Amino acid sequence: MEKRKLYMETYGCQMNFSDSQIVGSIMTDHEFEITENIADADLIFVNTCSIREHAEQRIRARLREFKRYKKINPGLKIGLLGCMAERLKEELLEQEQLVDMIVGPDSYRDLPRLLNIAETGQKAVNVILSMDETYADISPIHTKGVSSFISIMRGCENFCSYCVVPFTRGKERSRTPQTIVEEAQRLFNEGVREVTLLGQNVNSYNSEDGTSFAQLLEKVALVNPLLRVRFATSHPKDISNDLIKTIARHTNICKSIHLPVQSGSDRMLKLMNRKYTREWYLEKINTIKRIIPDCALSTDIIAGFSSESEEDHIETMELMKMVGYDYAFMFKYSERPNTLAAKKYKDDIDEEVKGRRLQEIIDLQQELSYQSNLKDIGKTFEVLVENISKKSKEEMSGRNSQNKVVVFPAQHHKQGDYVQVEVISCTTATLRGKVVN
Ligand code: SAH
Ligand code: SF4
Ligand code: F3S
Repeated sequence: MEKRKLYMETYGCQMNFSDSQIVGSIMTDHEFEITENIADADLIFVNTCSIREHAEQRIRARLREFKRYKKINPGLKIGLLGCMAERLKEELLEQEQLVDMIVGPDSYRDLPRLLNIAETGQKAVNVILSMDETYADISPIHTKGVSSFISIMRGCENFCSYCVVPFTRGKERSRTPQTIVEEAQRLFNEGVREVTLLGQNVNSYNSEDGTSFAQLLEKVALVNPLLRVRFATSHPKDISNDLIKTIARHTNICKSIHLPVQSGSDRMLKLMNRKYTREWYLEKINTIKRIIPDCALSTDIIAGFSSESEEDHIETMELMKMVGYDYAFMFKYSERPNTLAAKKYKDDIDEEVKGRRLQEIIDLQQELSYQSNLKDIGKTFEVLVENISKKSKEEMSGRNSQNKVVVFPAQHHKQGDYVQVEVISCTTATLRGKVVN
């Protein structure tokens, strides 16, 4: 019998993409196959994100486009998964008539049963958050390529005042080191050469046997010297010197740390409930630079949080310059219902001012990224070959340990090879070089 077809679309963070691979695995075990062609689908899953208002609006606009597929195929079912499902629950069914299933991030094992309900014409909902679900025993389907994600923990209990994640993802829980190492080994055997260990705050990793995140990272690094290991994200308050030393010790642990600062102003950091000060953060950065001199540093920044003054904004930009970030994700503050900030602080910065500050931050980061790339000219990096360059078939691209994209003339190399590339020139976004081995 021909299998029914599932089409999936994923929004939001890497955790969500990793979850979609778990969902894919559950559904392919239940007589579905994945299709890349939406017009063929018997079932559409949208794995959603609530982090900013804009993310939700995009998804709602996309849902409206699905109407025509239901017209063509009246049996088509549409499931809304992930953070937006968890945040809005049944409310979404009233707002979005097209949706048949609402499934929160901890209920994916229940998908086959929920689909059965949906197929009788009823609406199906499961948004129960779990204390212990980690999907540790499910092997995620992974897309072809040399990189793969491994979720090592779920949930977040940090309650940064602006953030919806603790509400959509629930309590923190960690997988055992054993299942993580086994997954890394399996992926390596299948040809994967880079794994990224994922959690909202990997430094809260806390397995029952007492393994710390630094110890876990080391165990994964020991799977094979040809397997690169990355991780995301670290909350600055929890990053330990032990972890920094572990990164320094292993050549296959990538020299790149994403350490979201959010703001350079102590007053903002306090209102954001980030639990560190500007000085404390800069001290951590100095420790990283001292122990891992070639470490790339990236960050997240929010522009225009409640009551942010021009001075606060300038402090953020000063901090960016002091750190000299290689890369940053930058956002306008978006108030999220029910968060502490929504309850206690006014979203009182004009849209226009938010936009202008964000632009200044983006412009500054462009300059910092360019400066950082300029410094790499003349250096030789080990690059993991990922693909043929999008722009030209004669070129290949990959990334170095610092997570920078490196483009070089194609030779006999193939995906998954390591090559030594000497950097000759750069733009803000890429390094360009020649192969030297
Ligand atoms: N757990 C990660 C971040 C997850 S969300 C961490 O703490 O580092 C990714 C980024 O989105 C955050 O770092 C923050 O910069 C941004 N973000 C979160 N909530 C936001 C909001 N309400 N408005 C604008 N940006 C937000
Ligand atoms: Fe959100 Fe803060 Fe948790 Fe990150 S650490 S997910 S910003 S609450
Ligand atoms: Fe978005 Fe949920 Fe990730 S809100 S950023 S998909 S944890």
